[in-house]
Amino acid sequence: MVASWSARRLFCIVARLDEPFDVESFKRVMGCFATGVAIVSSIEDAVPVGFTCQSVVSLSLDPPLIALAPAKSSTSWPRIARAGSFCVSVLSEGQAELARRFAVSGGDKFTGVEWSPGATGAPVIAGSLAWVDCHLELIHDAGDHEIVMGRVVEMGEGEAGGLPLLYFRSSYRRMGERG
Ligand SMILES: Cc1cc2nc3c(=O)[nH]c(=O)nc-3n(C[C@H](O)[C@H](O)[C@H](O)COP(=O)(O)O)c2cc1C
Repeated sequence: MVASWSARRLFCIVARLDEPFDVESFKRVMGCFATGVAIVSSIEDAVPVGFTCQSVVSLSLDPPLIALAPAKSSTSWPRIARAGSFCVSVLSEGQAELARRFAVSGGDKFTGVEWSPGATGAPVIAGSLAWVDCHLELIHDAGDHEIVMGRVVEMGEGEAGGLPLLYFRSSYRRMGERG
């Protein structure tokens, strides 16, 4: 799709509702929404499972709820859903390698990864900035993803404090980094 400049609106229009939907444009536009990066994990039959996830939001204070959106293509998510609980470990700026490892589908991602069990037994990733341990409360269908709600049962912050790993325009970033 050819980008066109609108003098009136002063921004670049790359997709319009009256044109065929362009997935790459959609990804590019939504890629401007910078987020943190998390690993969503659980224990299924004593085996730790998890995947890299950015679609994490704080949803409700009373009761304490968070939401995230696993893709229907995720192989870890059905296993996590079966376990009925999950932990969201918020990655710190030095954990991009972990994020890359957990963004690969399947296999044993936990070899050599330091973790400890949260209240639900789900893995809390060592060195993460913060973590939220949840019981799975609801799964809602959402196109090629699901929207998942978790009730927070335990949470914490890493002792070292530190800064978050960010994801912006398809790249891992550190706060304040340019380019
Ligand atoms: C920064 C980043 C954010 C991601 N966020 C999500 C997400 O919110 N939901 C999702 O299902 N997959 C997300 N993914 C993709 C999964 O991590 C990836 O598809 C992974 O291979 C799934 O592994 P699995 O098949 O073992 O579950 C993200 C990947 C990256 C690199």
